[in-house]
Amino acid sequence: MESLTCFLNEALTIAFVIFFCLYFFLYKLKSKGIKLKSPPGPRPWPLLGNLHLLGNHPHQSLSALAKIYGSIMFLRLGSVPTVVVSSPAMAKEFLKAHDLVFASRPNCAVGKYICYNHRDVAFVPYGAYWRQMRKLCTVELLTVKRIESFRFVREEEVSAMIRCIWQESGHGAQCVDVRKRLSSLTQNITCRMFASRTYSDNELSGGHGFKEMAEEMTTVSGAFFIGDFIPSLDWLDLQGFRRRMLAVHKIFDRFAEKVIDEHVHRRLEKGEHNEEDRVKDIVDVMLDMAETEGQTISRVDIKAMILDMLIAGMETSVTLVEWAVSELLRNPATLARVQQEMECAVGRNRRIEESDVKKLDYLRCVVKETFRLHPPLPLLIPHESMEGCSIEGYFIPPKTRVYVNVWAIGRDENVWKDAHQFKPERFIGSNKDVRGQDFDLLPFGGGRRGCPGITMGLSVSELALAQLLHCFDWTVEGEVDMTEGFGITVPIKNSLFACPKWRLATEYPV
Ligand code: HEM
Ligand SMILES: *[C@@H]1O[C@H](CO)[C@@H](O)[C@H](O)[C@H]1NC(C)=O
Repeated sequence: MESLTCFLNEALTIAFVIFFCLYFFLYKLKSKGIKLKSPPGPRPWPLLGNLHLLGNHPHQSLSALAKIYGSIMFLRLGSVPTVVVSSPAMAKEFLKAHDLVFASRPNCAVGKYICYNHRDVAFVPYGAYWRQMRKLCTVELLTVKRIESFRFVREEEVSAMIRCIWQESGHGAQCVDVRKRLSSLTQNITCRMFASRTYSDNELSGGHGFKEMAEEMTTVSGAFFIGDFIPSLDWLDLQGFRRRMLAVHKIFDRFAEKVIDEHVHRRLEKGEHNEEDRVKDIVDVMLDMAETEGQTISRVDIKAMILDMLIAGMETSVTLVEWAVSELLRNPATLARVQQEMECAVGRNRRIEESDVKKLDYLRCVVKETFRLHPPLPLLIPHESMEGCSIEGYFIPPKTRVYVNVWAIGRDENVWKDAHQFKPERFIGSNKDVRGQDFDLLPFGGGRRGCPGITMGLSVSELALAQLLHCFDWTVEGEVDMTEGFGITVPIKNSLFACPKWRLATEYPV
């Protein structure tokens, strides 16, 4: 009896030891696997994950974190697995080598409440609808040929802006709000592109102007909306963003309805008289398609497209040109060189035209340098993985959000010499470009989801900047304030006020 108990005891102990060893071994194996697989990152808090680390300028906070954890970093934002990419080599992995895997967008509140429940191009997840709309952009709406056909619009409107600035400054007697003028410039240009006419602020409901509407949209799109990351808190709308998104969506929707109604009306009249012979605008093209057999473009799709064009077309170029002018005002020698180049190429007897800009190499270096230090969308638009993917030995699970921190790449001392100085010279003689082939300079993103409006964005920005510097000398009172503001596009916090002085030999514009 005693020996039996002893035996049982022993057997039990042995079984226990074996079980424990096995368990421990398996556990080790598993956790080792996971550790190997997930990129490094800060320890998440319960519920919040790492959300509390983002602060008011997420691209800056993430850049500081990447200095600790490396150029591929794993965060948990609420319950959402997130990867932040902060080096050219890594950006190439995500936007080129594994482009398709990361070609989706997360399902987020902006897409839902502002972009017609994911009917636009920029925020819609990957799929047949995105492919159709994207193709429409690249082969119809934003082709080089169509952009070229709107050249007269850009030239007219840039000259109108110059006139406006001169008048508003009381012929150089006082400073003007440069961003405000740039905003109405890009507003006028994009409206004429999609609707063949300009709209004034009082044609917008809600008592606000286009500038306020566009700024509100980029602000709420840049915010990290808690409901996107902690779904259980979605209903609370703690930050008040859902309310703001719905409000600004409503204002935009009334405007888009009006634009389409006008077009439908005009087409009916045109049917009767058949006399109109103008350049087709983007809404025309889309309405034509909607009337074609076999096409499935709805009114909502057209509105969503207008939305993307207006917001993408307005805010990005404004941000860029405002940063460029501000940098130049802080770097007088650089500014003098830009103006010198324009004098050689064009002289002072006439305005700069779009065809002149091609000859202004140094000006284009200034634009590149501004893109490097002040990419208008510092974190691009968030991407999302469609399936699991292994990169550099790390495993990225499906449905992971990806932020490519192009702002951090542009300011990385390991990538750029004197990264924190504004030195357009660095681009002289280099064929580095901003169009998505050089992964250290990615202001337009890259790959399948890269910006389809590059040609358009560059032509507007370059021409506007050229004329601002060719027509005027500028002075500011005190220091130029370079503090960053807030939003998916990051503007200067306090918009630039500067005083123009006429510098062409020709008459003042009246
Ligand atoms: C200086 C001007 C511009 C800059 C810096 C810029 C930058 C960008 C960036 C960074 C993205 C996201 C890329 C990514 O997530 O990988 C993007 C997407 C997009 N941009 Fe632009 N953009 C500019 C002008 C324009 C213009 C003028 C238009 C059209 C009129 C436009 C239309 C779009 C659209 C539709 C998308 C979404 C593409 C997609 O998700 O498939 N952009 N842009
Ligand atoms: C935009 O267009 C309106 C209406 O044509 C015009 O009054 C205004 O001066 C334009 N704005 C700028 C900055 O050119």
